[in-house]
Amino acid sequence: MMHGDYYLEQLGIQRWVRRRPPASTAPPTELAVDAVDSAPALTATPVASGPPVTPPVSAPQLNATPVSAAVPAHLATLDWPALQAQVQACEACGLQSTRTQTVFGVGNARANWMIIGEAPGADEDRQGEPFVGRAGQLLNAMLQAVGLAREEVYIANILKCRPPNNRDPRPEEVALCEGFLRRQVALVQPRLILALGRIAAQNLLKTDIPIGRLRGQEFSYGESGIPLVVTYHPAYLLRSPAEKRKAWEDLKLARRIIQSASA
Ligand code: URA
Repeated sequence: MMHGDYYLEQLGIQRWVRRRPPASTAPPTELAVDAVDSAPALTATPVASGPPVTPPVSAPQLNATPVSAAVPAHLATLDWPALQAQVQACEACGLQSTRTQTVFGVGNARANWMIIGEAPGADEDRQGEPFVGRAGQLLNAMLQAVGLAREEVYIANILKCRPPNNRDPRPEEVALCEGFLRRQVALVQPRLILALGRIAAQNLLKTDIPIGRLRGQEFSYGESGIPLVVTYHPAYLLRSPAEKRKAWEDLKLARRIIQSASA
């Protein structure tokens, strides 16, 4: 049993199964898992030779002028420990009064993939690490499906503190917190950002376009032009497993982008 299958089976949700043997040109873990929901039209497309990315005709044309991802001057020179200390000490938005602890980020500090979610939930607030609850288990399985261990990527959130009762982050909270994330991106220098869910996608791209129109295509983040792909939040996928097929397409797109950049 693949490691990813284990996570999904533990969750009691639809498995992502091997649909055909890996292409001989690709490492075994690079191919052949697909989100299954018994959709007859679902076919496993070898990722390495997958079609080029063609945005839908109606796709929003963002990024004509890159949205600024400039790091505020007071954070711009901070190293990892200093940045984390700033996050821990922050009381700018008021969320420190209801959260247990800050949730800074975790993973490979020079990762190729940077995964950005919304905000800590109850489990993350308790443990101090992003994506450790059920959504995190699904995220691990999604990463596994594209051949990535959780430890290989860097995972962070738009907000570093849990909003009470998991309410949506407020615009002023996002604005006060985003310098931290920008500095994290600048330190990691990922080759790709994967935005999980509407809140992450809309805030990173500075748009209110619905996630259904943002996913499935390539954007770029800030002046550095880091490729950015949007997909559904794993918590949403737990509620709507039929959408996993689209998330799988997004993951394959992200992997194609990374692969073509290194070809
Ligand atoms: N959802 C998120 O967006 N981030 C987490 O860290 C956990 C759940």
